[in-house]
Order: sequence, then structure tokens, then C-alpha cells
Amino acid sequence: MKPFEKLLFDNKEWAAKQVAADPDYFKRLVEIQSPEVLWIGCSDSRVPADKITDTNPGEIFVHRNVANLVVHTDLNLLSVLQFAVEVLNVKHIIVCGHYGCGGVKAAMTNHSLGLIDKWLWNIKNVHRLHRHEIDHLESEEQKLNKLIEISVKEQVMNLAKTSIVQKAWKHEKSPDLHGWVYALEDGIIRTIFDLPAGSHIDPIYEYDNL
Ligand code: CO
Repeated sequence: MKPFEKLLFDNKEWAAKQVAADPDYFKRLVEIQSPEVLWIGCSDSRVPADKITDTNPGEIFVHRNVANLVVHTDLNLLSVLQFAVEVLNVKHIIVCGHYGCGGVKAAMTNHSLGLIDKWLWNIKNVHRLHRHEIDHLESEEQKLNKLIEISVKEQVMNLAKTSIVQKAWKHEKSPDLHGWVYALEDGIIRTIFDLPAGSHIDPIYEYDNL
């Protein structure tokens, strides 16, 4: 069986197992989607959002990209964010990175990987702004993991800079923003940074007419 055929085979097995355990399982899910959490994670195959949080279909709304970045010109991310906040009314947005992230690692080198260089510029920018917190660390692994933590914090701040989040903070008093980092070594998520709804951000980014 080829890998893609195995996916289809396992899908049928999984669907049958769900119905065997709970005959109304799919019927319930078809009727409504009301997740309270938007998850922004890395595309890395080792960090599937629902698996590592043991959540069921219907519980979290997910966006994933290389190195879990919040980029203000990314129409895909902005659309997910706007829909999650204004239509689904999610109460929490989690940016979850992971230690050993290949995207962040690539951004720390001077090696071109093609088109993705442009995407990784965003991480190089974070590195440039926080060089003083990173350069003094001893090993390459420590430097990488520090940048991963700092980047997650920066991505959370990027969310707060959007008019979408600021408008929701003003009118809905939500969502709360969270920055987490998952460790591949032990499967545990570390909490890095919280930005509750209504938090103050650098005034240059605050909109006064939302
Ligand atoms: Co990654």
C-alpha cells in the first residue's frame, strides 16, 4: 500500500471506530462548529494541534504555517483570524511554537533555501531586534530555543497589533492571547507569554477609532 492509500484506508477504519463507539458522533459535528480556541502552530508534521492537546474535532480552529508566524500581509492568516474572532467568537488565541523548529533554525543560518527565504525574513527580523538576548548563550541549541521562545512572544504581539484583535478587545473584552512552546522531547507544552484581552501595547500600534 502506498503512503497516500494508507491514509484513505486508515480514514475508513477511524470513521468506523468513531461510529461504533458513538453512533451520533458525526451527526453532532455536522450540525455546529463552535470552537473557543484559535490555534496558530507550525506546519511541522510532529506537532499536530489536536493530537498534542488531546482535543476532539470541533474544539479548536487551526491555522498552521512554517514557524507559526503572524505576518500582517498574510491574507490566509488574516482571514482565519478575522473569521475566528468575529464569526466564531473564539475566547483564546494560542500561538504554539516548538523547540528545534526547522524554520527558525533555517532563519539563523546564511544559507538560501529558495522562496521560503522571504518567509524566514520575519524570523531574521525578530533575531535582529533581540540579538542581545541570544548572542551571549553558549550552545547553538540554546540560541535556537531562545529565539523560538522570543519569536512566539513577538507573534502574540503581532496579533495584538491587528485591528481585528483590537476591535474585539474593545467591544467583546476578548480574546486572550497566549504564547506556548511545545517540546518534542517530552511532549509537554511550556507556557511562555500571556497577553490578556485589553492589555496595553506599544501606543504606536494602537488604533483609536475602532
Ligand atoms: Co517548526
